[in-house]
Formats: sequence, structure tokens, C-alpha cells
Amino acid sequence: MIARARRLEKIPPYLFGEIAALKAKALAEGRDLIDLGIGDPDQPTPAPIIQALFEAAQNPETHRYDESPAGDPPFLEAVCRWFARRFGVEVDPKTEALLLIGSKEGLAHLAWAYIDPGDLSLVPDPAYTVYRVNTLMAGGDVATMPLKAENNFLPDLTAIPTDAAKRAKLLWLNYPNNPTGAVATLEFYRDAVAFCRDYNLLLVNDAAYSEVAFDGFQPPSALQIPGAKETVIELHSFSKMFNMTGWRIGMAFGNPDAIATLNKLKSNLDSKQFAAISRAAAYAIEHADNRPTLSLIQRRRDILVDGLNALGWNIPKPKATFYVWAAVPEGETSISFAKRLLEEAGVLVIPGVGYGEYGEGYVRMSLTVAGDRNGERCAEAVERIAKMGLRG
Ligand SMILES: Cc1ncc(COP(=O)(O)O)c(C=O)c1O
Repeated sequence: MIARARRLEKIPPYLFGEIAALKAKALAEGRDLIDLGIGDPDQPTPAPIIQALFEAAQNPETHRYDESPAGDPPFLEAVCRWFARRFGVEVDPKTEALLLIGSKEGLAHLAWAYIDPGDLSLVPDPAYTVYRVNTLMAGGDVATMPLKAENNFLPDLTAIPTDAAKRAKLLWLNYPNNPTGAVATLEFYRDAVAFCRDYNLLLVNDAAYSEVAFDGFQPPSALQIPGAKETVIELHSFSKMFNMTGWRIGMAFGNPDAIATLNKLKSNLDSKQFAAISRAAAYAIEHADNRPTLSLIQRRRDILVDGLNALGWNIPKPKATFYVWAAVPEGETSISFAKRLLEEAGVLVIPGVGYGEYGEGYVRMSLTVAGDRNGERCAEAVERIAKMGLRG
């Protein structure tokens, strides 16, 4: 066998092996599992977007390489118009925006575009694992910014050691947040932008869930802070906005040098996205409506959180994202509790420790519940958990 690159050894061990094995066993036994595991919209992409793809795919122009500098121009112009409408911030489609093959691709490649061996990233914990893993694979080091309940799961910027801030190149944020469901305020973004400007850091803000919000709440953008374009690149995605995870399309906005740097790397790695997908996404952001899916997710959230809280749990209701972040009962770890829920109630959740050491003590329940039409599977999850006689 040919030896793999040593960088692959830097990928942390997969922590869900035991849960995955229990899930496979339960399914093989024909048990009815309620899967609150993966965060992937169970509803289809709205039909008009599929129609737009069909029409764009009839145009042979879309069958060739997209040779534009930063992504299909109609796509970039549409997403920049959206950004101005949604956040009141003008971005130049030629220099301040970039097409991504999903936001994961852009996030991963930002680490590769900026991190040399020995460079430092400031990474939140718990977090989506891509920021940490790609920093490590690129040979960099990670300094952790703990996300704690007492700070509303925002990092305490004043607790970052000065030498780490001075040494770091990138500071990663993700709001609305996976896995905690927390949201950022403009005030927090103001502090984060000032911090990054003081220490000459690139703030990479992962805003993949900016459009998954409830009760009329509209999550802000870090780019709304005056002067933010000096120091911020913000990534958005169609995946959760319009149930398009499989389509692989997203975009970055912000600092022109960061956009050009990421584009330089990408232009040597990929050849953008199928232009018919870019055009369907441009149609989606101008014309499509995903409110029915959001109402369904909100209904599930209310059934699950109100139901568990009525049993004595104490779970905050997320204002955004698909995620309910629940503290485990005393005496349990996140893994032991996830195992119990699976074995005793047939309810699959993700142990918080999988997102980092500060995720210990929590489990993540996703509201993208396959097979749930109107909240009935969430209601059943609550009933099954009630039968376990657990208190949160
Ligand atoms: C926090 C966060 N960022 C980014 C992504 C990647 O989304 P995509 O690559 O589909 O845009 C995900 C996916 O689950 C996520 O949870």
C-alpha cells in the first residue's frame, strides 16, 4: 500500500463510531428510529428552482466550463443584490464576491489559502469541524475559543491570550451557530471586527444558517459593521436557505484581498459550478420562497423544546438554525446519554463532544427530521423520552 500524506493523520478520530454502530444495529433489527442526527433539510428544493435548473440546463452555453473570473456573472450580480437588500451593505460583484461549491469548500480552502506550517487559527469550540481540521491539515496550530452557556455561546474575546492573538492569522466565527443554535448580535460583531483589526486578523464568518431563523428574527451580518470589509470574509450558502444541500452552491463576500486570495487557490483546484446550477441559484435568491419549510422547522422546534421542557428539561429555544442544544442529565456524558436515548427510546441525537471538548455535557438534536410531516415525529420523540422517566 502507498503511504498516505502525513497530513491525513492530523484528522481527529471519528467519535460517532459507537453511535453509528448502534444505529445500524437498531435499523437491522427493524426498530423505528427517530433520527435527530444529521442537519440536512428533509424537505425538497422548492419546485420553481428545479424548473429554473431545467430551463438553464437547456442552454448549451451552460454545458461548457464557466470561464468567468469569480463565478457566473448573473449569479454574482444576483447574490450581491440580495446582500444589499438583506443587510443594507453594497458589495461589488467583481471584487467583493466569489462563487463557492458550497460554503464547506470555501471554508476549507480559506485555511489552505492562509495557513502555512506553524501559523495559528483561533477556532471556536464546540464548532463545525472544518475550521480546525483544515488548519491542522495545512500544518497550522489551533487556539481554542470556548463557547459557554454563560456567554450565550459567544467567544469571550477578552479571554484570548495576547500572544495567541498576535500570532494568529485567522479568527473563525459561525453565527447562527452549529451546534449550539446561538446567534450573534451586531454589538458582538462590532467587538469582533475591532479585535481583528487591532491584531491584523482575517475574520472568517461562517453564515451558512443566516436565513434559517424563526419568529421574524433576521440574523445580522458581520459586514454590517462600518469598516468590516477591511478584515472580514463572510460565507453564505444556498444549502439551508432553499433546501439545496446536494446542489453544492454558496458564496463569499467581503475583503477584496481575501476574495482574490481564495480565488487564486480555487482557480487551481476547481472549475466553478455547473452554470445551470449557478443560474437556478440566481433565480432562487431573487424569486423563491422557502417560508413553508421554515414554518415546519419552527413547529418542530416548538413541539420538541416545549415538550422536553414540560418534562423538567431546561432547553433554550433557538432563534435560528436547525439545532436544539440540550444539556445532558447529571451523571451522564454526551456519549452515554446519546447511547441511552438511542437504546431506550429509539431517538438518535449527536453527542456534543463530537464538536469539541466544550461540547461535552450536551447533545445536539436536529430539527430536519426525515419522515416528519407536521411535527408528529418530534411529538413522538418527546413521548418516548417521557417514558424513560428522565429529567433534564
Ligand atoms: C456551520 C456550517 N457551516 C457550513 C456548512 C456547509 O454547508 P454547505 O457546504 O452545504 O454550504 C455546514 C453544513 O452542515 C455547517 O453546519
